Amino acid sequence: MSATNLVRAYTKLCHNTWKGENMKTQQLGTSEVKDASAVALGVMRISEKSADEAIQVVNAALEAGINFFDTADIYGAGKSSTVFGQALKDAQVNREDIYLQSKGGIILPDGQINGDGLKGPRFDFSKDHLIASVDIELERLQTEYLDFFLLHRPDVLMEVDEIAEAFSELKASGKVRNFGVSNFTPLQIQLLQQATDQRLEVNQLQFGLGHADMISETLLLNMGEERSIERTFDSLTFAQLNKITIQAWSPFQYGMFEGVFVDSPKFGKLNDTLQALADKYGVTKNGIAVAWINRHPAGIQTIIGSMNPTRIKEMSDIDSVNLTKQEWYDLYLAAGNILP
Ligand SMILES: NC(=O)c1ccc[n+]([C@@H]2O[C@H](COP(=O)([O-])OP(=O)(O)OC[C@H]3O[C@@H](n4cnc5c(N)ncnc54)[C@H](OP(=O)(O)O)[C@@H]3O)[C@@H](O)[C@H]2O)c1
Repeated sequence: MSATNLVRAYTKLCHNTWKGENMKTQQLGTSEVKDASAVALGVMRISEKSADEAIQVVNAALEAGINFFDTADIYGAGKSSTVFGQALKDAQVNREDIYLQSKGGIILPDGQINGDGLKGPRFDFSKDHLIASVDIELERLQTEYLDFFLLHRPDVLMEVDEIAEAFSELKASGKVRNFGVSNFTPLQIQLLQQATDQRLEVNQLQFGLGHADMISETLLLNMGEERSIERTFDSLTFAQLNKITIQAWSPFQYGMFEGVFVDSPKFGKLNDTLQALADKYGVTKNGIAVAWINRHPAGIQTIIGSMNPTRIKEMSDIDSVNLTKQEWYDLYLAAGNILP
């Protein structure tokens, strides 16, 4: 039996002994999607994996109870969605059992990535480009529809009526069921929302113990501290008020460039606090870091990006973790934040 056939046989076995029944689920925005896994898998890094490794990643996610997957037309210069789409097929995943989300609107310098050969670098929310982005992603993912399509990063030259037209066509054609944005300010969301009939259900933003500006800017309001600088324009409260789900990207990275904080000697106090709680709840430090995000009442969905099957399962194992308010604040402080 070839290696791929072995992986397929294992896949069948896994699907028959489906675990992950303890995964927390949640509604996304006000959409019809009421049972998305609270931990989602982002496949930005899957382009580096072999076909067999990609199948193992998909299987690990499914076994952990993950039913929601995030990609984008630019990930791996387009290869991520292709590798992932093939892995879904090889793993014989039933399309109706999962939710697929992709993002578009970034044009990389090289062209040919987003389906229409445009060359950047720039952001581009023109109607033709958004439709081309969805079309290429459907092809790569080998599917007829996306459950969610997000505008990846704000195009400051966006003409909201044009985006509204693109959304209407994508919805009417059945290619996209729900819409959202990523890295948008609250005012940008309002600007677009008043132009389109399609509800913006999610805003994907970097968030986690290593990147908690959404919290610190509100906690330290008016304090003259570095961490009181308003960087997200209170995106979290805005999302709560408007029933928009925040999706936390890069949950284990410290800032944009410092790398993973889990197990890093640069973040000793944070790791000690994570370890003590991991011991208490019988999970890993990654699991506690996800539980910290999940503990916020806004109902934030965490998008993990691990391509390690064991870690994927450990990170998703948060059902038994009920952080007390004190534990939540202890973690926040251990990450280098302050209280007023
Ligand atoms: N909207 C946006 O602008 C935007 C931007 C970036 C990302 N995203 C989305 O968010 C998803 C997640 O982003 P991300 O991959 O940066 O998230 P992440 O989960 O914070 O980081 C994943 C990386 O951290 C490593 N890692 C995690 N825990 C570790 C540990 N304990 N020790 C050592 N390494 C560890 C993983 O390695 P292993 O694979 O070995 O576990 C992997 O390389 C992406 O796939 C994408 O879907 C969105």
